[in-house]
Amino acid sequence: MSLDMNLLDAQAPIGVFDSGVGGLTVVKEIMHQIPNERIVYFGDTARVPYGSKSKDTITRYSRQIAHFLETQKVKAIVVACNTASAYALEDLEKEISVPMIGVVKPGAKVATETTRNGKVGVIATEGTIGSKIYSQYINQITKDIKVIGKACPLFVPLVEEGLLQDPVTDEIARRYLAELIDIGIDTLILGCTHYPLIRSTIQKIMGDAVTLVNPAYETARELKELLEKRNLLNDKPILLGEDGHRFFVSDAADKFKVFANSILKYGILSAKVVDAGDY
Ligand code: DGL
Repeated sequence: MSLDMNLLDAQAPIGVFDSGVGGLTVVKEIMHQIPNERIVYFGDTARVPYGSKSKDTITRYSRQIAHFLETQKVKAIVVACNTASAYALEDLEKEISVPMIGVVKPGAKVATETTRNGKVGVIATEGTIGSKIYSQYINQITKDIKVIGKACPLFVPLVEEGLLQDPVTDEIARRYLAELIDIGIDTLILGCTHYPLIRSTIQKIMGDAVTLVNPAYETARELKELLEKRNLLNDKPILLGEDGHRFFVSDAADKFKVFANSILKYGILSAKVVDAGDY
C-alpha cells in the first residue's frame, strides 16, 4: 500500500465490486451491520461472467475497477466476488492505496466453525473451484476437513436473468448438487456472491441437515473490525434525502437498477455507466 493509512478519511465511502449483481448480497450485509457507511458499488455488467475467464483477465478487470474506485476516494475496497478474490486480491493488495478485503477467507473461516462431520462442500464458479482457494484456506486452519468443490457455471446467468424461483433453476441445481448430497456434506459454502440469491432453491435441494454458509455476513463483520482498528468507522448517519450510496455499472444501467432495488431496501434512483477499461 503506497498511501499513509492515517490520511484516509472516516467519512469516505467503501468501494465494493463484483462482475454484476452478485456483490449486492454483500452490500446488503454491509448496510445491515454498519449502516453509517456510504458505499460506492461497481458491477461489471458489460463483462460478466468472470467465472469462466482466465486469472490474467480477471486480474486486469479487477485492477481497472480498483483504480476507478480509488478515483471515488474510497477508504477501503471490498472485493465482493469470489472469483476476483481468488485470482486478483493477493496481487492488488500490494498495488492499491487503500485496504482491501475479499470474501473467500471469511467464508472459509465460518465453514470450519460450522461443520460437524468434516465434509464441507463449496459451490462456486469454474475459476474459484479451479483455484482450490477454499480448500487452501480451510486446510490452513485445519487439516481435518475434506473440501469438495463443485463448479456451477449456469447459476450466474440464471441469477443475472432474474430466474431466482424457477423450475429451470430447480432442475439445474438438482443436477449440480446431486454429488454433494451423495458424499454426505453437512456444510455448503455459497462460494459465489450470486448464489445467496437462489439460497432457498439450494437449501430445498440439500435438505435442512446441511448448513449453508454465506460469506457475506463474516465479510461485513471483518470489514467493520478493520475500520474499527484503523479508526475509520463513519459516525455520521445517512440522512433522509442524502444521496448516500452510489452505483456504477459498465452496461445496462436500468436493468441493474431494477434488480438492485429488488434486493436492497435502499431505493436506488440511478446507476451510472462507466467504462472500467478507461482506468
Ligand atoms: N459473483 C462472482 C463470484 O462471486 C462472479 C460470478 C461470475 O461473474 O461468474 O465469483
